[in-house]
Amino acid sequence: MFRTALVTSAALMLALPVAVAQDDFAAATAPFTLPDLPYAANALEPVIDAQTMELHHGRHHQSYVDKLNEAVEANDALANMSLEDIVASAGSLSTEIRNNAGGHWNHSFFWRLMAPEGERGEPSEAFGAAIDAVYGSMEDFKTAFEEAGAGQFGSGWVWLVVDTNGQLAVTTTPDQDNPLMDVAETRGTPILGNDVWEHAYYLTYNNRRPEYLSTWWDVVDWGQVSQNYKAALADQ
Ligand SMILES: [Fe+2]
Repeated sequence: MFRTALVTSAALMLALPVAVAQDDFAAATAPFTLPDLPYAANALEPVIDAQTMELHHGRHHQSYVDKLNEAVEANDALANMSLEDIVASAGSLSTEIRNNAGGHWNHSFFWRLMAPEGERGEPSEAFGAAIDAVYGSMEDFKTAFEEAGAGQFGSGWVWLVVDTNGQLAVTTTPDQDNPLMDVAETRGTPILGNDVWEHAYYLTYNNRRPEYLSTWWDVVDWGQVSQNYKAALADQ
């Protein structure tokens, strides 16, 4: 999907330099930078409060970027590797690089899965049909995703991926791992993911992770998810 995004971005470079910078996070090399939020910090209220967004993006994500840059600076072998390549070889890298490269990739991906009211797209016909074929209905898919997220012990992420057979699958990863990593139990290309670290929801939902997971659907941009699905299939 990111190779496709890169080609598209290159074609748009003259017209849309700002968009290009944000689309290229996976292909970028060090020094890595924090992408701007694609909307105001309060744009997802009341589902995600502004303070959570400000801390999550400005403190937590910034910290992953800063620590990744420090680690890469101390390791010449990583200097010319893209974020996507670092993530893919996480199993042979230090825990510090694995955690911070994963944190940067995961959050860069996450912000763009959500959109303010009026800017959220609908599921494409192809994506909707794939969901129905695997899960029976969108509602049943959501239930499976919520249960997986609620069942992830401790901090981590819940994902919908296109797996190595081209099939949709729900999976979870601990800490800042993701399904692109060589260490992931279920490998695949993420097309949707939710952050189940407490820093993502605690101010509004306290310890009620299931409530956060079921409310989160209200801000998901299914148009973006459908684009991710199409790109993931094209990369198979
Ligand atoms: Fe997070």
